[in-house]
Amino acid sequence: MTIIAVDGPAASGKGTIARALARHYGLPCLDTGLLYRAVGLSVLKAGGDPDHEADALAACDFDAPLLDDPALRSEAVGSLASRVSVHPGVRQALVQRQRDFATQPGGAILDGRDIGTVIAPDADAKIFVTASVHVRARRRYDDALAHGGHPDMDSLIADIQARDTRDMSRDHAPLRMADGADLLDTSDLTIEAAIRQAIALVDAQLEGRR
Ligand code: CDP
Repeated sequence: MTIIAVDGPAASGKGTIARALARHYGLPCLDTGLLYRAVGLSVLKAGGDPDHEADALAACDFDAPLLDDPALRSEAVGSLASRVSVHPGVRQALVQRQRDFATQPGGAILDGRDIGTVIAPDADAKIFVTASVHVRARRRYDDALAHGGHPDMDSLIADIQARDTRDMSRDHAPLRMADGADLLDTSDLTIEAAIRQAIALVDAQLEGRR
């Protein structure tokens, strides 16, 4: 069984890298941010307050089809996800689902904020993907343009900084590099180069574990 943990801040490229690693190693992949996004969107739909733990907790038993809702991908829902994910009860409610996915026969790849620290601290390989705030905002900008949006660079930078601060300073499972993780800074890398480096880092970690 091979478990690979990919963590990092918003728009660092961790999702793209996790999916590429999944194809390369033939493993199933879970984007754990989607679970928090689903909770955030459910709270909104129910008219609840994302900063209120009871409202956020009530949203944790969302219906599975919500995970396919395209609205989950918006920056607004990303911020809601970051707000509901502060509550310890919400994190606890989502732990088992993530651990079950990680420990399925053969193993899996999970990407998020606390995979290498909390969900799978004994993962066989751990990568922490990052990039400068400016580069990450630029990626969101290009993405929004490509989808017909009218993005504003300054507000994207502000959103990303606010999300980083909230994710890194919360009391429970804050975003940080796990013990034993390798750092991959994608600021100056093409997607292809970032994927090649990620595979090299994972190969070296798996080799070292033998
Ligand atoms: O795609 P992006 O990196 O922008 O966000 P995401 O991975 O979908 O995560 C959205 C929010 O959910 C993050 O800002 C975190 O606050 C939260 N999250 C978390 O707390 N733990 C995870 N394992 C994944 C996401």
